[in-house]
Amino acid sequence: MPPPVSQSATARAAEVIARCQALARYSEDAGSLRRTFLSPPMRDCHQAIAGWLKPLGVVPTIDAAGNLRAVHPAATANAPALLLGSHLDTVPDAGAYDGMLGVVLAIALLEQLEGQRLPFAIEIIGFSEEEGVRFGIPFIGSRALVGRLDEELLGKRDPKGVSLREAIQNFGLDPSQLPAARLQYEKVLGYLEFHIEQGPVLETLGLPLAAVDAIVGQTRLAITFTGQANHAGTTPMNARRDALAGAAQWMVAVESEARRASGLVATVGSIRAYPGASNVIPGEVRLTLDVRHSSDEVRTEWVRRLTASALEVAARRGLGLDTATLLEQSAVVMDAVLTSEILSAVRASASTAHQMPSGAGHDAMILAERVPAAMIFLRSPGGTSHHPAESVLAEDVACAIESGLCLLRRLAASPRFLERTTRNRA
Ligand code: HGY
Ligand code: MN
Ligand code: MN
Repeated sequence: MPPPVSQSATARAAEVIARCQALARYSEDAGSLRRTFLSPPMRDCHQAIAGWLKPLGVVPTIDAAGNLRAVHPAATANAPALLLGSHLDTVPDAGAYDGMLGVVLAIALLEQLEGQRLPFAIEIIGFSEEEGVRFGIPFIGSRALVGRLDEELLGKRDPKGVSLREAIQNFGLDPSQLPAARLQYEKVLGYLEFHIEQGPVLETLGLPLAAVDAIVGQTRLAITFTGQANHAGTTPMNARRDALAGAAQWMVAVESEARRASGLVATVGSIRAYPGASNVIPGEVRLTLDVRHSSDEVRTEWVRRLTASALEVAARRGLGLDTATLLEQSAVVMDAVLTSEILSAVRASASTAHQMPSGAGHDAMILAERVPAAMIFLRSPGGTSHHPAESVLAEDVACAIESGLCLLRRLAASPRFLERTTRNRA
């Protein structure tokens, strides 16, 4: 039976929740939380975090991709680093914990160390963009760390026509410095991300924490149905090429087919009809499709099926169809050594150890391309996320702090962990 959570972890947990709530006030929208790639509220976020790090003697920098980077030095110079982080951007009408919790918890662990230096440095990372809201492409911040923020991506434009490159420059950063944002893999021991589960599993099991064993793969498509705009009052029903009616027929089929496929999720998350007036038959509909499954084969087969059914609906209705891939991300297995250390730390300090897959995507799946990556989930009350009602339990945050401290101490005493940098994928 693990020991009761310490008073200091409990006090620190309340502060973590208060800090997440404080960061949630930095938004592009009045009355709800939206903080997208390098929007002005992101600067407020950086300043608040810098204020929390100042007493620790840690001064954060902002890299050319807009990631906040903050290093707590090791006991010895030139020691490799353990990365601790998550993302600081949000979806529209977001909750206060998706992403931010991982950064604020990392700061709390530094505070709990009370200046103690470990055989490895700790680099806290607040990624600039994980959700993909502004440019439709997720993981922009973490891609920069693994050298995948390429010219094509830098040329992508947001709905206002601002390119990613210009967004970086508008924030006062220099895209030519992106190579300097890349990790030196030989100096990284691993990446660890605390994150809310964003689903119902831990609440159903009555557990506060879990180690993540794998992150499911995901495909994101932009799909356009093209018909003929015309007068809503004078065009007979049998003389129409209504793009929205076609898209709607296909969307109902997507939901009913996905319901039949075990472990598959398929979502049309955004849809816009053009020209978008009540008295005009929609001539064009632009929507997104998000398909996920733990098996890459099953996912790609269902992407094929769902796009084929869109083509059939379009053909039957005399509509045009265009599809563009926004993201093709394979499933990723988390690092076994780090995950086993997480499970031991959770068992020793907080609760029974549970491990589970993640249906949500995370920066950890990008970092995992180059360095050992692992995640710790905290229970999501109500299984709610990507919604203002998203929350965490203070006692679970205290468990996470206790387990995180135990994990840092275990890693500091683990030769198999400390000798690992040579195995990173260069
Ligand atoms: O969409 C996701 O899986 C994550 O929340 N970015
Ligand atoms: Mn999210
Ligand atoms: Mn997230």
